[in-house]
Amino acid sequence: MDIIEIIKKRRSIRRFKADPIPDDLIKKVIEIATFAPSSCNIQGWRFIVVNDQKIKEEIVNQGGAITIKTSPIGILIVYDKRTRNLEYQDHIQSGAAAIQNLLLAATHFGLGSCWICQLPPKRNLRKILKIPDNFSPISYVILGFEEREPVEVKRAHLLDSLIGYNAFNSQSPQEKISTLKLFFYRVFRRFYYLLPVFLKKKFLNKFIDKKFVKKFDN
Ligand SMILES: Cc1cc2nc3c(=O)[nH]c(=O)nc-3n(C[C@H](O)[C@H](O)[C@H](O)COP(=O)(O)O)c2cc1C
Repeated sequence: MDIIEIIKKRRSIRRFKADPIPDDLIKKVIEIATFAPSSCNIQGWRFIVVNDQKIKEEIVNQGGAITIKTSPIGILIVYDKRTRNLEYQDHIQSGAAAIQNLLLAATHFGLGSCWICQLPPKRNLRKILKIPDNFSPISYVILGFEEREPVEVKRAHLLDSLIGYNAFNSQSPQEKISTLKLFFYRVFRRFYYLLPVFLKKKFLNKFIDKKFVKKFDN
């Protein structure tokens, strides 16, 4: 497959076969991630491979997506957060570039993957995975051999409506979400992050999964 085919073929996969992923394959996808561009060429990404079921469950109990515990492995990408450019948060951009490389490499090697940022508060994740202060969790990627081939999904918008020349395209479509709803979601998430784990586990996690987590086909 050439690069364009790989980019178009990649889909978010959340259901996997139980088959384990060989260690050398995990290393190969991580190696490709490290060829991403990074601000000032700092290459400040680090990768935490999570294959211990107890740790996956701990991440889920503390607010992580359920798919974290139902997938064979996960990789948390963290990045050196001592950015010189707070305005553009270039450490997050550099980490995200590595994540996209990782997803494309996974597709190339026949692995399904999904980018997950439904995660516990950063301070909790730091404790669970022993992340030093200088590094910030960027996102988590689940990986495995997919249960079935996903279908191609059409793009949401016409290409021309996304492009502006010398200025933002004023005809560009915008997501329909009211300021109030957005405010509610943000406050709810903040509130959720502050709750003790036993309350989340006992009362909220199942409810949130049912009510708020979008269900996908694959
Ligand atoms: C920044 C980011 C965060 C995401 N977080 C989640 C997540 O927490 N849980 C999840 O199931 N999918 C997550 N996704 C995957 C998106 O739902 C998915 O990319 C989108 O639905 C488009 O589907 P596709 O990747 O198959 O093209 C995330 C994707 C991105 C880029």
